[in-house]
Amino acid sequence: MNQVFAGRRLAVGVCGGIAAYKVLTVVSRLVQAGALVDVLMTPAAHRFVGALSFQALTHRPVLDDPWATDAEGQIAHIAVAEAADLLLIAPATANTLAKLAHGLADDAVTLTALAARAPLLLAPAMDGGMFGHPATQGNLATLLARGCLVVGPEEGRLASGLTGHGRMAEPESILQAAAGLLQRRADLAGLRIVVTAGGTREPIDPVRYIGNRSSGKMGYAIAEAAAARGAAVTLISAPSALPVPSAVTYIAVETVQELRTALHRGLAHTDVLIQAAAVSDYRVAAVAAEKMKRKGEDLVLRLVENPDLIAEIGAMPERPILVGFAAETGNDLAQAREKLRRKNLDLNVLNDVTAPGSGFGTDTNQVTILGRSGAPEVLPLQSKRAVADALLDRVLALIPESRRP
Ligand SMILES: Cc1cc2nc3c(=O)[nH]c(=O)nc-3n(C[C@H](O)[C@H](O)[C@H](O)COP(=O)(O)O)c2cc1C
Repeated sequence: MNQVFAGRRLAVGVCGGIAAYKVLTVVSRLVQAGALVDVLMTPAAHRFVGALSFQALTHRPVLDDPWATDAEGQIAHIAVAEAADLLLIAPATANTLAKLAHGLADDAVTLTALAARAPLLLAPAMDGGMFGHPATQGNLATLLARGCLVVGPEEGRLASGLTGHGRMAEPESILQAAAGLLQRRADLAGLRIVVTAGGTREPIDPVRYIGNRSSGKMGYAIAEAAAARGAAVTLISAPSALPVPSAVTYIAVETVQELRTALHRGLAHTDVLIQAAAVSDYRVAAVAAEKMKRKGEDLVLRLVENPDLIAEIGAMPERPILVGFAAETGNDLAQAREKLRRKNLDLNVLNDVTAPGSGFGTDTNQVTILGRSGAPEVLPLQSKRAVADALLDRVLALIPESRRP
């Protein structure tokens, strides 16, 4: 792990919690591994640990004054934010999580976090009641949805003497999470990845449609994660209320036919296709040209079957790596395995949309990844962004060494 940090630049934001003393170990390990570390402190952090300790470990000044300029006269927090390969905030207090979630920037830590473009790793630490409070949970959900990574907290003895969920992750876990993030930074560079997302709409008449409950969150998280890891990403999106992610080529579609056209247009230049869109299996045979009116009797709509887009591509002699999603109401592994084989997929992601914390509209997901060989891999319930990164790790492992960036 240590070689990952050599020559990298990390900003470490320390907040006012008891666990601040453990961050001395994290910083010391980073410096020993060859990283250049800028420590930022909130005013409250000074109550728990001395700036001098961090200064002595890093051989650099601690940034705790939002108004400070550096030796070149640059605004210090902007210089640190721009230079950082990774920003770690540990301990991330409930107060700072709230500020980050709302974009407040009134101390060196939150100010730098707002200015930084580097990935943000948070190590929350607090009393169990504070961690479980809906405000803190809501703030964390906002930050996770925005692509921040969170390590811990863990269950254990808290500073109060009570046992609960809120203890900061151990320095070793924090270092491992930071190393994983840095390692992933550009590991997909050179790959062309197409992600489909959202829920298709099949028109009934100019006003009504047949749709589904997909929010697009899983597909958008995959597109964002792949772009952050250097891939050239095309996001083909059926309707979704989510903002268009930056750094992706965005194609909006509505129906399965439109999705099919968009997919085939770029297929020759696609290395990996991840089909996370929820597509309608059927469409209305005869779409009414005008809004249909009540007739005082039952209405029968004839539906015709849509093409199975991923199976079509799976049957092609030259095809990209294919990843499918099986959104099921139940955890039917046999059916997911059969789908993988029948559609000639490389990976099939089984997603029980009825499981707590999983499925449509949630920010978290619990999935099982099935490959062509080996046992199904059951991932823990985690943010959709973390699921996206775990899935992209599996995709990368399928790409022959010779073709890897
Ligand atoms: C002894 C003591 C321990 C504290 N420990 C924590 C903690 O572990 N986590 C937390 O979120 N807040 C903790 N707090 C409260 C924060 O210090 C307080 O909310 C502060 O405003 C946080 O400021 P900051 O987020 O700018 O660092 C503690 C307060 C005291 C007095």
